[in-house]
Amino acid sequence: MATDPIEQLEQTLADINNYQISNLEELEAFRIKYLGSKNILKPLSGLIREIPNEKRRDFGQLLNKVKKAAQAKFNETKEALEDAVASNVESIDLTAPAEPIELGARHPVSLVMNQMIEIFERIGFVVAEDKEIEDDWHNFTALNTPPDHPARDMQDTYYLMNDPQRLLRTHTSSVQARTMTTSKPPIRIIAPGRVYRNETISARSHCQFHQVEGLFIGEDVSFADLRQTLYYFAKEMFGASKIRMRPSFFPFTEPSAEVDIWLGTDTEDNRRLTKNTGWLEILGCGMVDPAVLENCGIDTEKYSGFAFGMGVERIALAKYDINDIRLLFENDVRFLSQFKSAANF
Ligand code: DAH
Repeated sequence: MATDPIEQLEQTLADINNYQISNLEELEAFRIKYLGSKNILKPLSGLIREIPNEKRRDFGQLLNKVKKAAQAKFNETKEALEDAVASNVESIDLTAPAEPIELGARHPVSLVMNQMIEIFERIGFVVAEDKEIEDDWHNFTALNTPPDHPARDMQDTYYLMNDPQRLLRTHTSSVQARTMTTSKPPIRIIAPGRVYRNETISARSHCQFHQVEGLFIGEDVSFADLRQTLYYFAKEMFGASKIRMRPSFFPFTEPSAEVDIWLGTDTEDNRRLTKNTGWLEILGCGMVDPAVLENCGIDTEKYSGFAFGMGVERIALAKYDINDIRLLFENDVRFLSQFKSAANF
């Protein structure tokens, strides 16, 4: 370092001019060094005593110049840095597109269920939803399935806390009983929802699944109305050209039938869906047994009705060629994201 005081001042002036300041922290360091209460110019000004008289004036002027340079540099840099901060804020482009938000996909069960609902709504059915924790009466007894009735064996039931009166509903047919006891005909409902059965979980069956139940009660409702309603559904949902009804048994309907829809064997998809028969079984149905109507306080002299019920998972598995029902309950995004492009009902 130069020992001559004037040279020292000149060096300091050069240092000030070359000092690089790129942020407010560095500016503060600069202020402390050159303008603070213990700044390095203070000891330099004490050197005036070493200066011969005739040069003291020059020294004094140079010292002032250095101080002013430090102050000026501080002021200018401060302003420039503050401006930069302010203009940065303003430079946020509020019209720029936002970061994309990853869109989810509807669950295949929802896709199928919503499509079913939408089709029945078109012909005047309204959605009715009710309890998943049911009592024995609405799930069984009202539906003509008293205790010890062999039909109870068809549906292995989960009872709550070993209470024989409280159970997880085994079918959405329970909503029939709920609706008929609380509203007056005409009744035209579709009841989608979750049901439970004490079954071993495998690729083909699960202890929880979804059903869509339908119920139509009115004056002069006939089997032909049932058939036509289901034909309309089969046509809209699957593009089926015909349906067939096979006699069957359910405690709450008489007569009862199982319904197959004709998809044919022309396309590979349809051969797969129908196991090469052309026919796909989709639901159970029938005319509501007068005993059920009576249980629920509906005048059987005046009213009759039909009901039907179908499993949603079975149809989703068939429609999307899924070979294991468990996939529908695992919520693995690699599986679910495949339905992103499916129609968004
Ligand atoms: N509840 C029946 C089941 O879970 C399905 C069913 C069949 C519902 C016939 C009905 C019907 O309304 O009429 O297997």
